[in-house]
Amino acid sequence: MAILDRAIVRLLPAVPRPVVRRISDRYIAGSELSDATRVVRALNAQGRLATIDILGEEITNEEKTRVIMRAYEDVLAEIDRAGLDSNISVKLTGLGLELDYELCRANLTRVVEEAARRGNFVRIDMEDSSTTDATLRLYRGLRESGLDNVGVVLQASLKRTVADVQALADLKPSVRLCKGIYIEPPAIQFREYGAVRANFVRALEELLDAGCYAAIATHDKFLIGEGERLVREHSLSREEYEFQMLLGVRPGLGDELVAQSHKLRIYVPFGAQWYEYSLRRLQENPSIAGYIASDTISRILHPRANGTT
Ligand code: FDA
Repeated sequence: MAILDRAIVRLLPAVPRPVVRRISDRYIAGSELSDATRVVRALNAQGRLATIDILGEEITNEEKTRVIMRAYEDVLAEIDRAGLDSNISVKLTGLGLELDYELCRANLTRVVEEAARRGNFVRIDMEDSSTTDATLRLYRGLRESGLDNVGVVLQASLKRTVADVQALADLKPSVRLCKGIYIEPPAIQFREYGAVRANFVRALEELLDAGCYAAIATHDKFLIGEGERLVREHSLSREEYEFQMLLGVRPGLGDELVAQSHKLRIYVPFGAQWYEYSLRRLQENPSIAGYIASDTISRILHPRANGTT
């Protein structure tokens, strides 16, 4: 399968843009903020919350980071204007992490302060392992400066993650726990499927034991089941945790969570850079190409089963 996934990724640049667009349509709201508004409104009507992400372009200078920072301010204003139930997710490389730590801190602080002014919340996505330390340091700095409307992401595939939960526990952080999308050196990453699952469960247990707010971000039915079990064992109310999924991925599983009265937040990416973003994400992790290919084929073969996987 891995060879097939890599072959699909290599062929992708040759696939006409409109075809890639059609395939990525269900995973990306569109190129404009109005597209994100339309998609989030529909999700809210189905009892789902959202987190809006602006698809980033390659960041080569300070001005580009400010453009993204201002675009996030526009998203926060739009959430208010349209009365959406949504927060935002930001990538720190988009705000300048690889250019200059202080620049990134200034941009991030401004976005989090603007969200605080509007009673909203900012989730800092986690990128590859070269950014983990700086991301956690920036997060701690914000919290210690008194900003509480901000959360971070930890990746269960990284061997360090349980230690990161323990190191952050004094802050009672809001943590989105996911498997992690980036392929890292085996010395720092669990590669075996079962080992990633086991570390996910362990990290989630640590988070809940420490009284943290956990956002359980997965489409893995086994982990959703483990999440439900741990939430039950910790006697948490609906407001004390949430599940999260990506737009367009396994919506039927999301229906089940909502029907069981769990909070479910959907990650809604939008932006003009949808094509570059799609290719980059696929190149970072070719197994996604396999998911999308098999999902697209199964939708063609079993149209009635659409959305129920
Ligand atoms: P797994 O990969 O086993 O997937 C289970 C099933 O879900 C697959 O068999 C497939 O059917 C389907 N599936 C999963 N992902 C799919 C996709 N992209 N397209 C189509 N089908 C798919 N990662 C990270 O490193 N930093 C981050 O900040 C975030 N943020 C984030 C937010 C939210 C809300 C989610 C749900 C995920 C992330 N991730 C992330 C991505 C995450 O790390 C992980 O790569 C994916 O969620 C896939 O892992 P699963 O736990 O779903 O299991």
